[in-house]
Amino acid sequence: MMLAQQETNLPPTISIKNLSIDYKAKRGQVQAVRNISFEVDRGEAMALIGESGSGKTTIGLGVVGLLPPTAKIRQGEIIYRRAADGKIVDEIDVLKLNPQQIRQFRWKECAMVFQGALNAFNPVLRISDQFADTASAHNALRGMALKERATEILHMVRLDADRVWRSYPHELSGGMRQRVLIALSLLLEPQLIIMDEPTTALDVLTQRNIMDVLKDLRKNLNFSLIFISHDLSLAAELADKVSTVYAGKIVELGDVYTVFRNPYHPYTIGLIHAVPTLAGRKEDLTSIPGSPPDLINMPTGCKFHPRCPLADDQCKTQEPDLEEIGKGHRVACWKWQTARETLKRFKAS
Ligand SMILES: Nc1ncnc2c1ncn2[C@@H]1O[C@H](COP(=O)(O)OP(=O)(O)OP(=O)(O)O)[C@@H](O)[C@H]1O
Ligand SMILES: [Mg+2]
Repeated sequence: MMLAQQETNLPPTISIKNLSIDYKAKRGQVQAVRNISFEVDRGEAMALIGESGSGKTTIGLGVVGLLPPTAKIRQGEIIYRRAADGKIVDEIDVLKLNPQQIRQFRWKECAMVFQGALNAFNPVLRISDQFADTASAHNALRGMALKERATEILHMVRLDADRVWRSYPHELSGGMRQRVLIALSLLLEPQLIIMDEPTTALDVLTQRNIMDVLKDLRKNLNFSLIFISHDLSLAAELADKVSTVYAGKIVELGDVYTVFRNPYHPYTIGLIHAVPTLAGRKEDLTSIPGSPPDLINMPTGCKFHPRCPLADDQCKTQEPDLEEIGKGHRVACWKWQTARETLKRFKAS
């Protein structure tokens, strides 16, 4: 990622600290996000990986202020910083914004491409009108300026801008619609973009195409990215850093290279071995036994212990915190020092 020298010393685009989010459900409180902290630097991409239901989308919705009314942010802080000319020009305490301010914040500072949003377009509006709607809600671009900006970003996502501009959503393929959504997220030049499973539900070739577009965009534009995916190979390809999320908590965090080459949390190790392309040989393919915990009735201690071959009494009673085990590499596991070796022996037997 090319960044102007002056930008690299700036504080992160987003700093999330001790964020906890619950949902109220009939059976009780769903602890969807539990005491999560991470930062995304300028121009950096952070992947959030983890099984279905681990809380990834909830984190994203919390950042853009789109949690449903049944959700409650129990604690935490989200600080967003806009930079210009090598300086921080605005620092926003996101959780303190009022509804009007958060609407302005969304799109302009932070845009989210939603999971499964391919059909979220208004079917009776042309793409041009969908762009105009977003812009006018922010008193931003209109007329020729809007068309020019839109053409520029539609080109960036490798679409025939003139054709797409006049089209209705149903006239575009799924892959084209996803690229329009990505372009739309860039319209007001937000410095943070959250992409929630942007390639899921697309065929493999279309997925490849979107990944290439995203890599291009990252090279050419300066935004920071939170990339949500359960697909580890995509995360490895696109992100600089990765966080493994389990039962609403980050259990491992580090740069992509370190986490994928040298994972220490038994859950991350399991995830990586569940992917044939990353694990190498096909015989290595083992899935993680058991299923994710009930977030209403959580196990005691480490939430992974019922599925972990290494779990002992301490794991069953005390939840480990994230501990720094190497430069920028953090792991929440009592057994991290021996996890890799033990799991290797475990598999060999
Ligand atoms: N509106 C809601 N009300 C109650 N519980 C919810 C609500 N939305 C999500 N949850 C629960 O919160 C937890 C986290 O959900 P979330 O959608 O954030 O997970 P995810 O990691 O994005 O999963 P996926 O990979 O399937 O998209 C899950 O247990 C889910 O069932
Ligand atoms: Mg999700």
